[in-house]
Amino acid sequence: NAEGYKAWLKYDLVTSQENIREISRWCSRIVHLVDTRIVQAAKEELTRAISIMIGEEPQIASETVTSNHIRLATSEQLNVDEFPEIRKINEEGYLIKTVKHEEGSYILLAGKSDKGVLYATFHLLRLIQAEHSLDNLDIVESPRNQIRMINQWDNMDGSVERGYAGESIFYKDDDFIRDYDRIKDYARLLSSVGINAISINNVNVHAVETSLITTFLPDVAKVADVFRTYGITTYLSANYASPMELGDLTTADPLDEGVKAWWKDKVKEVYSYISDFGGFVVKADSEHRPGPFTYGRNHADGSNMLAEALEPFGGIVIWRCFVYNCMQDWRDRSTDRARAAYDHFKPLDGQFHNNVILQIKNGPMDFQVREPVSPLFGAMRDTNQMIEFQVAQEYTGQQRHVCFLIPQWKEILDFDTYAKGQGSTVKSIVDGSMYESKLSGIAAVSNIGNDTNWCGHQLAQANLFGYGRLIWDPNLSNEDIVDEWARATFGNNSAVIENISAMLLSSWQIYESYTAPLGVGWMVNPNHHYGPNVDGYEYSVWGTYHFADWQGIGVDRTVTSGTGYTSQYFEENMKYYESLKTCPDELLLFFHHVPYTHLLKSGETVIQHIYNTHFEGVDQAIALKEKWEALQQAIDEERFHSVNERLEEQIENAKEWRDMINTYFYRKSGIKDKENRVIY
Ligand code: GCU
Repeated sequence: NAEGYKAWLKYDLVTSQENIREISRWCSRIVHLVDTRIVQAAKEELTRAISIMIGEEPQIASETVTSNHIRLATSEQLNVDEFPEIRKINEEGYLIKTVKHEEGSYILLAGKSDKGVLYATFHLLRLIQAEHSLDNLDIVESPRNQIRMINQWDNMDGSVERGYAGESIFYKDDDFIRDYDRIKDYARLLSSVGINAISINNVNVHAVETSLITTFLPDVAKVADVFRTYGITTYLSANYASPMELGDLTTADPLDEGVKAWWKDKVKEVYSYISDFGGFVVKADSEHRPGPFTYGRNHADGSNMLAEALEPFGGIVIWRCFVYNCMQDWRDRSTDRARAAYDHFKPLDGQFHNNVILQIKNGPMDFQVREPVSPLFGAMRDTNQMIEFQVAQEYTGQQRHVCFLIPQWKEILDFDTYAKGQGSTVKSIVDGSMYESKLSGIAAVSNIGNDTNWCGHQLAQANLFGYGRLIWDPNLSNEDIVDEWARATFGNNSAVIENISAMLLSSWQIYESYTAPLGVGWMVNPNHHYGPNVDGYEYSVWGTYHFADWQGIGVDRTVTSGTGYTSQYFEENMKYYESLKTCPDELLLFFHHVPYTHLLKSGETVIQHIYNTHFEGVDQAIALKEKWEALQQAIDEERFHSVNERLEEQIENAKEWRDMINTYFYRKSGIKDKENRVIY
């Protein structure tokens, strides 16, 4: 296999003899006291990894042996008094413990369930890849979030909506590809970082995909089978108009008895193929997708009807809150797209069934490089909520620019909503602890495709890895996540780790600095969203404006003089954003319309900030490439060159951004750059 394909499950032959001896000492034998399909996957992974790393295949036994070994067990096979930690972990948690005994020492990989055993396995392998000593392991882990999900935006014609890494690994020509080896390798990658749920088709469910819940069910079942072996539950995105498109009904009205009966039958059929089917992800009444609004019903009516059908089977409805008017008149300055999710959903709090969970995008707009946190988090005390991120880099360089997004997500999860006073962080809402929600979690749009290295950009793999790691434990630091990823992916050469870490950790800020300034967003080419176009969306129907004129720029979202969006936040945040005095620079233009001469907290004027950041951003992009080039001798050619080419493109594209943005604002404002740099 190509180097990029193996991603962070690379398992190179260990070069130091001493390390080989250390690994052999513990890992030459694997004892599994339990044997489920998931444990088999764990054994297979250990066998594969250890064979490559030490050049010798480990022996497998199902009974205890007296020599050193790795022991796989669930709590059922353990003496709980000897391992009291097992009581503290949750259903998916695990222990990794070096246990020393006269009659044979071992590394215990134990979970409450077999899933824990698998997660422990991947954790141990990460430690070995990072040359961690195995002599005194004592690790106790439980995932902080319940649903840890990936959303594929794959269409059955093989295209991937907002996909930047080739075509779908699941579908082609309106059919399944049935390449289960590739799907299995994807399942391994996901499971290795703790992902436990996947929806396998685009939220925009077109004609062919609507049939995933009928004619294609045998195929969906096969895919679900592969994922199940890795502890991952399969979901489908459903078309709300299915009863009309698949059945012979003339309505999809959620209160219509015929419609209810149709979905009940349909769900029963789905479960006859996939007994542990997760449920439906639904994009309704959004961007021209059908939904309950057509029938004068609201989103509680709409989702509850599906929830009732799924309830007897333990299934759930993941209902997206990305609902807004996408046919806005740009002349109308009172309608504010940012308000939409809250305005639609907040009044429905408490009306959703307990197997409905609302999936809310992290920000009120759409995965921009910088947005405030959606005010819906924490605003619905009696409704299950999960957050949606986008690992796919739609607005953050489309996997042609490096943009490591973990710092962004971390900032969002750490954001204090003040919903229940100080300390009401987003992470404590979406992990279910704050309101003791029955269902909770995190989902994200996948960034993979059939490119050999999965993500197009080799360094974009870090976003998928980091997403899984962060949602497992939102308290992990950005630095730790980068370090883990870089070691598993590129080995332990210190220069490699140092430069790659520095590149990734600065990349989001760099991308932000040469694109849309100060939180205003957009300024991209319409439709495909790559590259600069300041007015690309300014006179459009999409509700995404910057309102730049000759005097100033920004969207007034205050209560005092604007759209009133700030009022959707709890009081502390409302005041914080409402006032020009406290509103942070990086979100200034999201909340306020200000003159170009407005003084930022940084001490610069808005216009000078725009010029400075755009010049600096390009310089920093150039520095990224220098850091990478310094590693040429230490990285295989395949990966070295592929990243190098993309860094080259990033620089060229960043220059395009710099020059267009600077020129545009120079021409609008007539204000010169203090430093007299070249503006056209
Ligand atoms: C964005 C994206 C669309 C996608 C939509 C969604 O607007 O550009 O391609 O369908 O989000 O999340 O539903």
